[in-house]
Amino acid sequence: MADTLTITDNRTGRTYEVPIDDGAVRAMEFRQIKVSDDDFGLMVYDPAFMNTASCKSRITYIDGDKGILRYRGYPIEQLAEQSNYLEVAYLIVNGELPTREQYDRWVHDITYRTLIHENIKKFVDGFHHDAHPMGMLVSTVAALSTFYPESKHIFDEETRRLQIIRLIAKMPTLAAFAYRHSLGQPYVYPDNDLSFTGNLLNMLYKMSEAKYQPHPVLERALDVLFILHADHEQNCSANAMRAVGSSHPDPFSAIAAACAALYGPLHCGANEEVLRMLTQIGSLDRIPAFIERVKGGEGLLMGFGHRIYKNYDPRASIIKEMAHQVFEVTGRNPLLDIALELERIALEDEYFIKRKLYPNVDFYSGIIYQSMGFPVEMFPVLFAIPRTAGWVAQWQEMLLDSEQKIARPRQLYLGYDQRDYLPTGQREKQSAVA
Ligand code: ACO
Repeated sequence: MADTLTITDNRTGRTYEVPIDDGAVRAMEFRQIKVSDDDFGLMVYDPAFMNTASCKSRITYIDGDKGILRYRGYPIEQLAEQSNYLEVAYLIVNGELPTREQYDRWVHDITYRTLIHENIKKFVDGFHHDAHPMGMLVSTVAALSTFYPESKHIFDEETRRLQIIRLIAKMPTLAAFAYRHSLGQPYVYPDNDLSFTGNLLNMLYKMSEAKYQPHPVLERALDVLFILHADHEQNCSANAMRAVGSSHPDPFSAIAAACAALYGPLHCGANEEVLRMLTQIGSLDRIPAFIERVKGGEGLLMGFGHRIYKNYDPRASIIKEMAHQVFEVTGRNPLLDIALELERIALEDEYFIKRKLYPNVDFYSGIIYQSMGFPVEMFPVLFAIPRTAGWVAQWQEMLLDSEQKIARPRQLYLGYDQRDYLPTGQREKQSAVA
């Protein structure tokens, strides 16, 4: 039987046959469904894109029911165990794992582009001492476009490749400068002898020592966290990157939009909320009462539940394992015991089982970041640095997709029909409409 959908319009009695490709029907097929020749045609209404595929993608695969996450076909567990962030970034951007030669060139190109123009320091200096580092990151990454005016030539392959490298390379430097500014400490320049995450720790934490030596366990833990956060298909910030990128600005401007989308508490702000919740619970004996309050509708168990994952978020299990390694270096974060017990009780509780609520990526990441000395304001910044690889990959895929055009949704207009303008004196007070 052919893969088609038969639709009967009960307003007219007419029947339409619409092809099904890759498990989807094209929304434009509905436009032919009309009640009269001057009818615009049927639209599909989908606020928040709950069931709309906005693109075809070959980057990241998620099966939320089975708890599967793969980049370019490779399971996240294998990448977290055997790869490193820069290799994963190469994979996400270019589609294949690099050969030794390709990898060496990629790492070299990124390492030697970590410096930022000295004038960027003046922007950072201009921020108030308590400016949120994410606000500084959004602004400075947008400002980079003015330093690289050629970056607007987005359809030139070599120019595009260079901006992708610049973005991956410079985000840690922008982030670290924002952090040092908030502490009133001098900026630390990149150290090309160190790894991607080793250098980030250097730029964040180096004091007066001649050379900063990152702790190998913490360097690797951060690298694994970066692998886990590198892409997550069409989430809010990836969608922002694609939507803004679809009008063809330079990628620095589009990344600023993606960062702004990420900044919101509904996107990456949950790990901060988890820390707050665990601190408020305070001790193991108060967990049962807390769970009862959640079940009674008084707040959420933060770090639990996900729009896509209706099973254990595969990233959460990797992070949970890694937490133990980190705490051997930093000392055990007492919040971990509360988190583990909370998880144990919740996973046995009918309320959470019935609703398929499992720990998500944010349940353990905040505890690790806190133990590594990061203030909560840095959490979204630590998300934005590795997600840059995902954003540029999504952006490039969109640019090279011949089906894509400027992203411009339709609306269902429910406002006034035409009415005539009245001079001020003839108007009656109307109540405001949203
Ligand atoms: N604690 C308690 N109950 C919950 C939770 C939770 N964390 N999450 C969902 N529920 C309940 C809802 O109250 C609802 O119950 P009902 O059917 O009795 O009304 C049911 O489970 C379904 O929840 P929805 O809100 O419909 O699920 P949705 O897919 O819209 O929301 C979300 C997903 C936003 C992640 C939600 O689970 C949540 O708010 N979790 C806490 C915040 C959090 O951890 N966010 C991080 C997500 S990961 C990330 O963004 C990187």
